[in-house]
Amino acid sequence: MVENMDKIFIRDLKKYSDKEVTLHGWVYSLRSIGKIWFMILRDGTGMLQCVVVKNDVDQETFQKEELLTQESSVSVTGIVRLEQRAIGGVELGVKAIEIHQIADEYPISPKEHGTAFLMDNRHLWIRSKKQHAILKVRHQVIRAARNFFDDNDFVLFDSPMLTANAAEGTTSLFNVDYYDRTAYLSQTGQLYGEAGAMSFNRVYVFGPTFRAEKSKTRRHLTEFWMLEPEIAYCDINENMEWAEKLIMHIVNHCLENCQAEFEILERDVSKLEQIKMPFPRLTYDEAAKLLNDKDIDFEYGTDFGGADETVIAEQFDSPVIIHRWPAEIKAFYMKRANDNPDLALGMDILAPEGYGEIIGGGQREDDHDILVERIKEHKLPMEPFKWYLDLRKYGSVPHSGFGLGLERTVTWICGIKHIRETIPFPRTMARLEP
Ligand code: 4AD
Ligand code: MG
Repeated sequence: MVENMDKIFIRDLKKYSDKEVTLHGWVYSLRSIGKIWFMILRDGTGMLQCVVVKNDVDQETFQKEELLTQESSVSVTGIVRLEQRAIGGVELGVKAIEIHQIADEYPISPKEHGTAFLMDNRHLWIRSKKQHAILKVRHQVIRAARNFFDDNDFVLFDSPMLTANAAEGTTSLFNVDYYDRTAYLSQTGQLYGEAGAMSFNRVYVFGPTFRAEKSKTRRHLTEFWMLEPEIAYCDINENMEWAEKLIMHIVNHCLENCQAEFEILERDVSKLEQIKMPFPRLTYDEAAKLLNDKDIDFEYGTDFGGADETVIAEQFDSPVIIHRWPAEIKAFYMKRANDNPDLALGMDILAPEGYGEIIGGGQREDDHDILVERIKEHKLPMEPFKWYLDLRKYGSVPHSGFGLGLERTVTWICGIKHIRETIPFPRTMARLEP
């Protein structure tokens, strides 16, 4: 590991008790009580109370309080002292302050701001405590997922963002001028992942995916990231086991590594702690019956709406797997059940606490001729799928996979209301800036 290039971070300060250190960061807040002033410094790894005492520093240093503003950039030198009452258990007795830039009046203050204003200032808002915590959880979710795949013989397999294939329906495609033809932004890496699985056995695709969603909900982005494992010689049952193990691993990793963030977010971690394997499994029929038994107006054969998903998920403490779906409402590539051709071997996973679908996947159709029929039924052009059909001509095997929506998962793990806060720069129907 590179030794931080000699830089010391606030996170590690307890090790430096009574030592002189220099920290580089930004002014979070300032407070003066006459002969002493306090600056809370943030450096991206933590917050630190810096104490400037008139009798301990030269006059020029003491007067810097009048110059400094919120978010000014500074390097601060001083002696680290253990101090129970300070945030992080340490404070800094300041000796010198080097100012890099005095910040203009910062638009974001601790007072309440409207969401539109905060989103317009997203490039600054990400410095705020809560946003910072959410994005750190995102980092840990990615880390957990990647560790899980890497430790289980999955090979990272990158798929293109520009593609000729409509894989998840034609209504949510973004078109891009591609020389003399039209390309789509990728809705899923799955089809390419399937090619990868025939080469490596187990692969995972991880990257951004795009959907021109017409819905403005708190669960939809137009650009979101998906973790998509694809596994050769794997049926729907094994697929469900992989999905369940992945989620369990992410939850446990976050419980171990995100305590500080959960505290900032006031996350009720008991809800995460009570998650246990095996997760409950319902067929689509059982889930539909559950809704009907509760007198919910649900039409058999349609997809569950957000409110339906919440009712189903509320019955359980752990995420719930729903499998065996009406084939009509699922993608063209899904394999049908042996015992009922009207059912697709798809599986979705709903997060607890009403966070909705975090995983979609299933077993893939592996027969060439059936797949050709499905492509026709879905009125998709055959030409762009020729390479995909090849996979059924050269050593086709039963295979399965799924896509975990990263931002939906982070929304749930953080226990926050809206998906837009789980990605540094969200893209929605109405937002392309910043
Ligand atoms: O269920 P979906 O559409 O499945 C697929 O795309 C498969 N090809 C994946 C695969 O089998 N490899 O999407 C997968 C997940 C959803 O469960 C949801 O969590 C997330 O992606 N998702 C979205 N997240 C945010 N905004 C949107 N507009 C999303 N659409 C789907
Ligand atoms: Mg889905």
